[in-house]
Amino acid sequence: MLVSKEFVKNLPKVELHLHIEGSLEPELMFALAKRNNVNIPFATADEIKKAYNFSNLQDFLDIYYQGMSVLKKEEDFYDLTYAYLKKIASQNVMHTEIFFDPQGHTSRGIEFKTVINGITRALDDAKDEFGISSRLIMCFLRHLSEEDAFNSLNEAIPYKDRIIAVGLDSSEVGHPPAKFDRVFAKARAEGFLTVAHAGEEGPPEYIYEALDLLKVDRIDHGNRAMENKDLLKRIIDEEKALTVCPLSNLKLCVVDNLKNHPLKKMLGLGVKATINSDDPSYFGGYMTENFIAVAQNLNLSMEDLAQLTENAIEASFVSAKRKYEMIRELNNFLENNIEPVSTAI
Ligand code: HPA
Ligand code: ZN
Repeated sequence: MLVSKEFVKNLPKVELHLHIEGSLEPELMFALAKRNNVNIPFATADEIKKAYNFSNLQDFLDIYYQGMSVLKKEEDFYDLTYAYLKKIASQNVMHTEIFFDPQGHTSRGIEFKTVINGITRALDDAKDEFGISSRLIMCFLRHLSEEDAFNSLNEAIPYKDRIIAVGLDSSEVGHPPAKFDRVFAKARAEGFLTVAHAGEEGPPEYIYEALDLLKVDRIDHGNRAMENKDLLKRIIDEEKALTVCPLSNLKLCVVDNLKNHPLKKMLGLGVKATINSDDPSYFGGYMTENFIAVAQNLNLSMEDLAQLTENAIEASFVSAKRKYEMIRELNNFLENNIEPVSTAI
């Protein structure tokens, strides 16, 4: 590795792809199961960790939806979100944009307001305690119907001031972005920004649909854009950020080995790639672990890693003022931590 772990840990970071339900650590899962009298099919945290062996996205989703069943009260959503924020505060994350899956909860009889009140109270506390800024993105579960997504959108409208964007997640193949064309049109008309998971397992055509039909501001994952030269050129020309998730890609067998991960090629081509943890409790690491994994396996330089943070700052859904503050924090760090290159005379 060209850079030290200390450099990676202290590098200011921005996370743009994090499912809050995917940050549920086994210990908290047990505590909430007990508090809420929910049965989970595991006896120990070790047993849970052993079950986290996935051969594709669906394998993971089956366990992820099961894990959510312990979340019932506003306090549970608060504890879940606060634990994630406390963790990333120790990893020098300045700003995070968090996905949540309301349909994963309302389908179990939990009210939308219970979910959003718990999450946003933790976000407010984290801003005060850790100085971490945040945005919230609600996702539609794409394996469910268009009608279901419309219902979820209608429930979100009264909370518009707390939700910056809508997204699209869950089982990708067989559920193309086109299925949610009308839902996203309504969301945009209501003032939401849009993002979508595309090209994680699904083909490049799904990325085209996300851009052309859903009019997304960022692509979540987007790995399979690498298969299509024209699409890649468009992503570069339009400066569409990709929220890349290296450890997730490894755990879900999107790549066979991190040494073959496309991230370095993306950076070399000028793609606005960013690094994210996706579902850190399930995939073996938060932001720092993801940065270290790619730095080690792809021999990334300090400049490459700084570029990843710069890309994330630029692609974030915050004011120009907040972007400027974060760029300043990044530059201050780099000035103090990158050895000046001596130029030969
Ligand atoms: N892909 C799709 N849906 C998801 C994911 C993911 O990586 N994580 C949580 N829901
Ligand atoms: Zn994701």
